[in-house]
Amino acid sequence: MVIPYGRQSIDDEDIKEVIRTLNSDFITQGPRVEEFEKKLAEYCNAKYAVAFNSGTAALYCAYRVLNLKKGSSFITTPITFVATVSAGILNNLKPTFVDIEPDTGNIDVDLIEKSREEKTTVIVPVHYAGHPVDMGKIWDLAQRYNLYVIEDACHALGSKYKGYKTGSCKFSHITVFSFHPVKHITTGEGGAALTNDKELYEKLLICRNHGIKRGEEWFYNVEYPSFNFRITDFQCALGISQLQKIENFIKKRREIAEFYRQELSNHPLFELPPEKSYAFHSYHLFPLKVRDTKRKREIFKRLKEKGIGVQVHYIPVYFHSWFKKKGFKEGLCPKAEEFYKREISIPIYPALKKNELEYVVKILKEIL
Ligand SMILES: Cc1ncc(COP(=O)(O)O)c(C=O)c1O
Repeated sequence: MVIPYGRQSIDDEDIKEVIRTLNSDFITQGPRVEEFEKKLAEYCNAKYAVAFNSGTAALYCAYRVLNLKKGSSFITTPITFVATVSAGILNNLKPTFVDIEPDTGNIDVDLIEKSREEKTTVIVPVHYAGHPVDMGKIWDLAQRYNLYVIEDACHALGSKYKGYKTGSCKFSHITVFSFHPVKHITTGEGGAALTNDKELYEKLLICRNHGIKRGEEWFYNVEYPSFNFRITDFQCALGISQLQKIENFIKKRREIAEFYRQELSNHPLFELPPEKSYAFHSYHLFPLKVRDTKRKREIFKRLKEKGIGVQVHYIPVYFHSWFKKKGFKEGLCPKAEEFYKREISIPIYPALKKNELEYVVKILKEIL
């Protein structure tokens, strides 16, 4: 038995929807893309959504459409998937890493102001594991210093901050999601960028399609070189079908988290993730923290041997060789580094069966 840390939940309805679209006139650049975008924007309470062929593509275009000066810098967290940072770097921006809150693993919003420089133009918080960042504070800073905010919400579809849905862009200019199979809903590969700003929306559409702005008849104009970041109609058909089940997916994830809390809250080896008073957590991940850092490796190995597909989220981004070559050094964000030494993500996804869940808990208890 191998129980992965995350996986998709696809049923016959999803498959039927995909087949229906495969049998239709358009399998790409057809009506289902727009339908998915409308439904996603509606779900998140945002005005506009643009679907992409990955979360990374959506992030790339989010940075691109802000049209920031070369050499500008962005503030983000080292505890994220590298795409948050690469997408900025590929837009000629420089990353500034700000340390995290040790409990949620999110960027410590109280450290952002001190790290801001003249060249800082955008803040990119990541809602780690599905627990929203304290966005009110970030938005205040953004207003005060005239900064943009891009939310990397690739972990956080279905979460809420002070009752506002993530994706509503109440506290940001653009919010980005990923629909990779381990995420809350899937399109295979896929992503989206949401905004309430019509101009940014139109720019996102252009960035998705080679920098092309369409004109009358056969005319079109390339405003700048970009890529083909388009998603297909059959992927969006899957997305539409998945989105109908999102409330149930989130409910299941929260039930699993609750079960882990009941079973593991007194476990001497592990600290459990919090859910702060302002947060409605959508539990993309369930990140445990090993109290004794010296035991992490052995525990990780033991769990793997027992068929539990644990993962580590994340190696701090600046530990990777490219960043080292650019001069980022260990010690830059001590709390993030400590977090990395302790973190192990255990399985959480709607299709996880009761007996599998009980097995995970049994093994975690035996590890004592
Ligand atoms: C925080 C974060 N940002 C960005 C991405 C990139 O999304 P995608 O894999 O859809 O390109 C991921 C994907 O795992 C992620 O976890």
